[in-house]
Amino acid sequence: MMRRARILGLGSYLPARRVTNEELAQRVDTSDEWITQRTGIKARHVAAEGETTSMLATRAAERALENAGLKAADIDLIVLATATPDYTFPAAATQVQAALGITHGVAFDVAAVCSGFVFALSTAEKFLIAGSAKRALVIGAETFSRILDWEDRTTCVLFGDGAGAAVLEAYDAPGTMQDQGILTTHLRSDGRHREKLYVDGGPSSTKTVGHLRMEGKEVFKHAVGMITDVIVDAFAATGYSAETIDWFVPHQANRRIITASADKLGIAPEKVVITVQDHGNTSAASIPLALDAAMRDGRIKRGDVVLIEAMGGGFTWGSALFRY
Ligand code: UT7
Repeated sequence: MMRRARILGLGSYLPARRVTNEELAQRVDTSDEWITQRTGIKARHVAAEGETTSMLATRAAERALENAGLKAADIDLIVLATATPDYTFPAAATQVQAALGITHGVAFDVAAVCSGFVFALSTAEKFLIAGSAKRALVIGAETFSRILDWEDRTTCVLFGDGAGAAVLEAYDAPGTMQDQGILTTHLRSDGRHREKLYVDGGPSSTKTVGHLRMEGKEVFKHAVGMITDVIVDAFAATGYSAETIDWFVPHQANRRIITASADKLGIAPEKVVITVQDHGNTSAASIPLALDAAMRDGRIKRGDVVLIEAMGGGFTWGSALFRY
């Protein structure tokens, strides 16, 4: 027997306002053709005035709880991944905790930008298998629209707002690779790459929020190698392979990065879940948004083996493999 963490439910939320490529082309020197060809993105959602990251996160969490058939009071751990919290402090996770009416257990944020959901999932799993908590909400939520330089066409067309959540539960599993739940996670970082993808402000440096800055080509160059490295680690740790997994649900930054990674690993295109066309790069929210979409449309079923991965600012990168 061995304690594992399994996913009981998923939920996500996109703000109502949808901004198409055509609409963006009226504001900056870009085109639907350029954005579609280079990234696969067709539209992104933008939070309304006053609609914050913790509000998006709460909506996604409520949907995940409903999907899991649980009440908020059943949760004793909230790990929220975000690079765009409502405030410098307190952690957005504590705002979600309060909004859900939870007064026990613990809630905190994790900062790993686009890799945030994988980092949060791995962190929550460790609390659950150590016995420190019983049921967790793992949330990725972002309002990147607030840190974009809307004059910079090289970045403002790429990102969007949204949130996704998973409900996890600790249970005693037989201890084989047939178990339901998280079977392996692999997290990495290398701070030498800071200047390739960063925000040029913060409380302790400029005392401002700052704007996202990215050398897109440089990030792209590193992305495929880093992503495939941690996936090879996940395959080595579990014995699963490109052939034996059911679904590949990558971070949704760019369709070309996703297909290049899948090709390099030999993962068949029909196993790859792509939602980037609908919401752009939502950073930590992108994997749970894609997981939720594929679960609700009937692709991901109970018992399926799912591989997730992400790479982003830091650099940070990571993978996780679980049986749903
Ligand atoms: O989630 C975190 C990780 N982030 C990523 O994964 C992003 C990784 N990078 C990328 O996805 C791609 O590098 C981009 C989509 C950002 C850019 O694609 P690219 O094929 O690397 O294009 P590029 O940066 O080499 O730009 C090509 C041309 C440039 O013009 P010149 O210098 O060739 O004349 C740009 O100025 O496209 C121009 N350009 C645009 N044109 C129209 C850049 N942005 C735009 C735009 N509309 N929005």
